[in-house]
Amino acid sequence: MCTHTVKGKIRNSIISIGDHTELADKLAIPGDAIYITDDNLAEIYSEFLADKKTIMVENGEKNKNLTTMDMIYDKLIEMGADRRSFIIGFGGGVVTDIAGFAASTYMRGIKFGFIPTSLLAMVDASIGGKNGVNHRMYKNMIGNINQPEFVLIDSYFLNTLPDDEYINGMAEAIKHLLIADKKGFEHYAENTGSFLDKKGKEISSFLCSQTKIKVDIVNRDERESGERKKLNFGHTFGHAIEKLSGMKHGFAVSTGMVIAAKISHKLGFLSSKDVETIKTTLVKTGLPVNFELPTNKIMETMYKDKKKHGDNIDFIALEQIGKAKIIPMKIEELKELFVEILIN
Ligand SMILES: NC(=O)c1ccc[n+]([C@@H]2O[C@H](COP(=O)([O-])OP(=O)(O)OC[C@H]3O[C@@H](n4cnc5c(N)ncnc54)[C@H](O)[C@@H]3O)[C@@H](O)[C@H]2O)c1
Repeated sequence: MCTHTVKGKIRNSIISIGDHTELADKLAIPGDAIYITDDNLAEIYSEFLADKKTIMVENGEKNKNLTTMDMIYDKLIEMGADRRSFIIGFGGGVVTDIAGFAASTYMRGIKFGFIPTSLLAMVDASIGGKNGVNHRMYKNMIGNINQPEFVLIDSYFLNTLPDDEYINGMAEAIKHLLIADKKGFEHYAENTGSFLDKKGKEISSFLCSQTKIKVDIVNRDERESGERKKLNFGHTFGHAIEKLSGMKHGFAVSTGMVIAAKISHKLGFLSSKDVETIKTTLVKTGLPVNFELPTNKIMETMYKDKKKHGDNIDFIALEQIGKAKIIPMKIEELKELFVEILIN
């Protein structure tokens, strides 16, 4: 078992990795907690959920919106949920984002916890207190920062996760290594195959070290006024590519990380050898490193990025593997660098 604590401004959040049955007792999960899950998980884990109060949403990013929230509020009222009720988000990142936002807003906020079931939700989405939904084409436009009471992570749930979803999550895990853990990245690059085995011996310690990277960063900057921005490595271009191509988030972030690594090299930081190692490691993982989209479309989409401020954007570069750097720059400047790396 492995435990970390997110020390939030309003409350602490206990992140536990281990057997879910043992942890449920240890964390004293209320027997009458209301589980929010999606239709996929409701079917696969019908036995696990059989004796639990459940609200089911339709799976997929397209359902992460205010219409789904509306449905959840109706169900909570129907179930007689009150200020003492406890909500648990049981699912991937879409479910944990929705469940956290529902719990944070229903009756001005009730207690909640997460049991993430996708790799992406385990290493990233469930940790750090960012909850919310998309608004029209704008991702995560409506939401808040509010820490769950606990996050219970058990690799057992990965057994049913489709392989492409596992690889999708691995992109965010590699991102963590690239921005904060050089040794971890080297170990991953040398033993990629064993990390791709969901039942392998590496997975528990991997989940422990991965979650620690995110917890440490959130503890130093919960509100994303500084260091937490480093978690956006690969996302500036990744988000635009995701929107335009319809690629899965992690797959688009993978191509975004390659672009960001090349720009980091262009800026005089990362060596060309390291850029190559990053690319090879992503390919070995089964992630894409190229895209076929017009440059101007990508830039147009980036202009709509909610992370930009005016004509400026905080570009996340790698000084070296394991060390990220926030570089404020004009979007035009970034565009020029982007065009340059595409030519070379
Ligand atoms: N809050 C944050 O800090 C944060 C960080 C990163 C990403 N996110 C959000 O996370 C979301 C992506 O999360 P995701 O990749 O988990 O997507 P997801 O929740 O859509 O899950 C992907 C698919 O896998 C299925 N699934 C999940 N766990 C399963 C399991 N154990 N067995 C079988 N099927 C399973 C789901 O039903 C879904 O169809 C995005 O909306 C993104 O914005 C949030």
